[in-house]
Amino acid sequence: MPQTDSPRLVVATSNKGKLREIRELLEPTGWTALSLADVIAPAGVIETGRSYLENAVAKAVSVANVTGLPALADDSGLEVDALDGRPGVTSARYGGPLLSDAGRCAHLLQDLRAVPRARRRARFRAVVVLALPGGQRFVREGVLEGRITEVERGSNGFGYDPVFEIHDGRTLAEIGEEKQQLSHRSQALRAMMKVLGELHEHDGTRRAH
Ligand code: IMP
Repeated sequence: MPQTDSPRLVVATSNKGKLREIRELLEPTGWTALSLADVIAPAGVIETGRSYLENAVAKAVSVANVTGLPALADDSGLEVDALDGRPGVTSARYGGPLLSDAGRCAHLLQDLRAVPRARRRARFRAVVVLALPGGQRFVREGVLEGRITEVERGSNGFGYDPVFEIHDGRTLAEIGEEKQQLSHRSQALRAMMKVLGELHEHDGTRRAH
């Protein structure tokens, strides 16, 4: 449970995996991360933005406005060079809204069936936004370079992990826990943790004087 004297923020996600990851990263900064379920949750934000930034800002700002607390939100996607950067911001809906993660991976492999290995470069991108109730915003980004495989490999992770190969040839679905060290999202979150650490320090300094 939250410590009473530590500053609090709300993580604007309903994804339990993301919440757990963010809480782990936040521990050394002195901030306590509340989930949407801990506060009066606003109606879910529909991701209609044309960019990761627009979507992440919309989520973070709406939660900060409703709760009066700092709010952290992220948006991410997969960019495939041979598809001119698609599916990008629409990664979660690629191939239609009814497809499962496995269905989307199969759909991607099918779209790339004629593309040779040398032209299967891709990257995951994540944008993390911290919105303060006073209107201030901080943005951090993370990128993970790789390539799309010819067949799915591995059973860990989610989304496109089984078809995304990193520099050493393993897919994100094959590397397990190691993903937390190198993923696009953890890079962006780690950069944001520095901001939160500085805000906390600044706040503590103010209170001490
Ligand atoms: P969102 O940031 O939760 O909106 O995620 C967008 C979509 O991008 C997800 O539904 C996944 O399809 C894909 N995606 C984002 N990050 C990852 C990842 O780390 N592994 C696999 N797929 C991802």
